[in-house]
Amino acid sequence: VAGAATVKIAADNAANVAELSAAAYAAGVTLGVLVEMDIGMGRAGVRSLEAALDLARDITRAPGLRFRGLLGYEGHIVDLPAFDERAREAHTSLAKLGEARRAIEGAGIPVECVSAGGTGTYAITSRLSDLTEVEVGSYVFMDAAYTQIEGMERFESALTVLATVTSRPSGEVVIVDAGLKNMGGEYGTARLLDWPEARCAFVSEEHARFDFPDEPGLRIGDRVRVVPPHCCTTSNLHDRFYAVRDGAIEAIWPIEARGRSQ
Ligand SMILES: Cc1ncc(COP(=O)(O)O)c(C=O)c1O
Repeated sequence: VAGAATVKIAADNAANVAELSAAAYAAGVTLGVLVEMDIGMGRAGVRSLEAALDLARDITRAPGLRFRGLLGYEGHIVDLPAFDERAREAHTSLAKLGEARRAIEGAGIPVECVSAGGTGTYAITSRLSDLTEVEVGSYVFMDAAYTQIEGMERFESALTVLATVTSRPSGEVVIVDAGLKNMGGEYGTARLLDWPEARCAFVSEEHARFDFPDEPGLRIGDRVRVVPPHCCTTSNLHDRFYAVRDGAIEAIWPIEARGRSQ
């Protein structure tokens, strides 16, 4: 891929840098590498400024690699419901990337790229002068989890799972055949795109139950568009997207990375 496109890879340890260097050198390409820094999520990433600087030095010396900058991800706070609290927490987290940038530049190593942010913090992260890139993804689809937090109003939900009403056990209860086998449910609560008043009571393996305030006039066999709780894992459960405009399918896009995690 690096032979045909500009690729940036995040790394947080010297062994990984050595492997990337050997592979890039053997393939005759130059790989861009970012030092990944933990800025509060507690997942991957170096834990200190010194470790960030040491790794940046390793990358600059490694054949086949080019040090491009820093990556952080404030994933622990991107979905805080209140915008002001999210902004406060994001500023605290992202300050660490700014400090690392200055430490690395102070050592004479140019930092071209400082990347961070998720959909929930795009409006905060993108205003910080230390940052050069916002690494967002979910805004394209706007799943039910993200539509439930403050500040996301300008994005509409574009991803739905087309489901069929399979049971109407009582007047206000609608059971559809969308469940955890075709919708990722780690965060958020499913919604019906065309019935905002319906409340999802639960999602099980092959079913979801929606409770309506009044009899909705839906019958067995009717189709409903379900906004999945979490778009990322939902995409990984399907082979293709059907791109629909004004009720007509305009394109079918294969989801090529689907199921490729090994
Ligand atoms: C490192 C990293 N950056 C950015 C994102 C994108 O976040 P979002 O889906 O909120 O736009 C993710 C999502 O998991 C991530 O893991």
